[in-house]
Amino acid sequence: MTTTFPATFPQGFLWGGAIAANQIEGAFDKDGKGLSIQDVMPDGLQTSPTESPTEDNLKQVGIDFYHRYAEDIALFAEMGFKVFRFSIAWSRIFPQGDEEIPNEDGLAFYDRVLDELERHGIEPLVTISHYETPLHLARAYNGWTSRKLIGYYERYCRTLFERYGARVRYWLTFNEINSVLHFPFMSGGIPTPKDELSQQDLYQAIHHELVASARATRLAHEVMPHAQVGCMIIAMPVYPLTPDPSDVVAAMHSAHASYAFGDIHCRGKYPGYLLRHFRENGITLDITAQDREDLENTVDFVSFSYYMSTCETADPSKKLKGKGNLLGGVPNPTLEASEWGWQIDPQGLRVVLNDYWERWQKPLFIVENGIGAMDRLVEANGTKTVLDDYRIDYINDHLVQAREAVADGVNVLGYTTWGCIDLVSASTAQMSKRYGFIYVDRNDDGTGTLERYPKKSFDWYRTVIATNGAMLQ
Ligand code: BG6
Repeated sequence: MTTTFPATFPQGFLWGGAIAANQIEGAFDKDGKGLSIQDVMPDGLQTSPTESPTEDNLKQVGIDFYHRYAEDIALFAEMGFKVFRFSIAWSRIFPQGDEEIPNEDGLAFYDRVLDELERHGIEPLVTISHYETPLHLARAYNGWTSRKLIGYYERYCRTLFERYGARVRYWLTFNEINSVLHFPFMSGGIPTPKDELSQQDLYQAIHHELVASARATRLAHEVMPHAQVGCMIIAMPVYPLTPDPSDVVAAMHSAHASYAFGDIHCRGKYPGYLLRHFRENGITLDITAQDREDLENTVDFVSFSYYMSTCETADPSKKLKGKGNLLGGVPNPTLEASEWGWQIDPQGLRVVLNDYWERWQKPLFIVENGIGAMDRLVEANGTKTVLDDYRIDYINDHLVQAREAVADGVNVLGYTTWGCIDLVSASTAQMSKRYGFIYVDRNDDGTGTLERYPKKSFDWYRTVIATNGAMLQ
């Protein structure tokens, strides 16, 4: 018997866009919301956190999604979105993170967002924790280094599942969970500076997050039998810089660092290569019998962000030659980069999709992909817009490779572009690093009307969705 795979995207493919609460909502202290770690990160990852919130933090206002969500969701509907990925700000629901009673005003806001999505027939995809740990949990407990956060996170999850469970099918436990290896404060709410944080404490924090993720998965299945729960990781294929077998092994080691998170989420236990890393580095984790049982609650699907690949080498002198991409490594001499130095590699997306599918045999969801660029608002046919052909090219080329992966037999559930509307950048906290199909009139100095203007890519993406990707070339 011969099996044929579709040469296009499957029927029901979930097309859409993605954002995170702290990068768009604003209203950082409204209606009982507590502070999150983002409120002391006015420069993203560029400088150390501040003591208290400062007014130069663009995230205090974001793009004012808190008040303009209806207008924005209507624009997403105009593009034909089937799905919208957004995060819930933990500190809107539990302002400090460790209270017993949630903040009703915070819960009511997401009711309104869900109402609006329902009105337009858009499926919600909810990230439970997206780089916005309540600041109190960071400061009072040193973030996820403390086992107590498992319980606080579980209480938060239960609150969300009971409140929104009938309306939300797709849930992601932690955004880019593997990024805690690189950004312990933004990702794990751990204030200890990275160079002072021991491997022991870092991996204990990771263990707590993994247990919390597994417990959330079990709880989701109990409270909402129809729910689909996914992990979310930064996907960044690591290529050997040369065919030298030592470079291949160096690439393998580097890839293991991220694979571990997917392996544990999909197989329910620690992989051998990570146990070896613990043994050889004197890391002894506190793992209880209950933890081991909890970890067996594996995810239903794997979601990931994909922006770039990287290279690795065993030759230290070559490592000095460039900064590499977001998670390190060395730059690929064959690839171009974005204005922010992120190397562009559409074929890497096909590689990741095949690789993850073969490794985990779980449905995959591409929940972030896009290009941050310096857009220019111009007047065309009497309206203001942005002629962002570079964005169209970028997304087209990545989707063509996703389509190739579907033809390879990979099960892909959907695709949500990152920053479907302009928002504040996570790493640099700039407005000028724009990703959207919709331009938002706000500048790095905080000026601007907050007016929305569809870009050229807006109409293009609408056609991509309307043709279920058939028009991609
Ligand atoms: C991902 C994050 O790392 O990349 C998002 O999940 C982030 O929060 C996105 O915005 C793009 O990164 P940046 O730094 O350009 O905003």
